Amino acid sequence: MPVDQEAFKQALRGWASGVTVVTSRSGNTVHGMTVSAFSSVSADPPLVLVCANRSSTTHRVIEQGGVFAVNILAAHQREISNLFASPNNEDTRLDHVTWTEGVTGVPILDEALVALECTVTKAHREGSHTIYVGRVEAVHTSDREPLLYYKGCYRSLLCEE
Ligand SMILES: Cc1cc2nc3c(=O)[nH]c(=O)nc-3n(C[C@H](O)[C@H](O)[C@H](O)COP(=O)(O)O)c2cc1C
Repeated sequence: MPVDQEAFKQALRGWASGVTVVTSRSGNTVHGMTVSAFSSVSADPPLVLVCANRSSTTHRVIEQGGVFAVNILAAHQREISNLFASPNNEDTRLDHVTWTEGVTGVPILDEALVALECTVTKAHREGSHTIYVGRVEAVHTSDREPLLYYKGCYRSLLCEE
């Protein structure tokens, strides 16, 4: 018997993750949303995946444009995470942050911890979401600290020696 949705969500709150903003471009349209469902898939070839709700605008832009960037947020970017998760300012989110265009044309957020530019290689529909698998075409790195998310709260790394 399948578990009920609340029990499922409650269990998944125990999964600590980083936080990303997945951005995309289709023609002149640029868009992005907060995503925690991100994973590395393979190093050779370099592949990653993100899971996007099919009701999201970001899903549509990735579907049409075939490119996306995973901007892994740094510890000081929790407001950016909230901004890109909010339905209120959907069309103007990218006007409130500074970003540059990557080699694939997708927005790369200034001061992200890491950004991975990808072209979509596969799109798997599963439940309410699509799993987009992307080949990494370019990487942007820094030595900043990560923003973490656990049990509905943002966290920072504690360094234990
Ligand atoms: C911490 C956090 C993680 C999230 N992770 C995901 C995710 O992995 N996939 C997803 O589709 N939505 C995720 N969301 C929800 C979207 O960010 C949110 O629904 C957003 O408003 C969708 O924007 P759009 O419709 O403009 O693309 C997450 C939200 C938060 C706060």
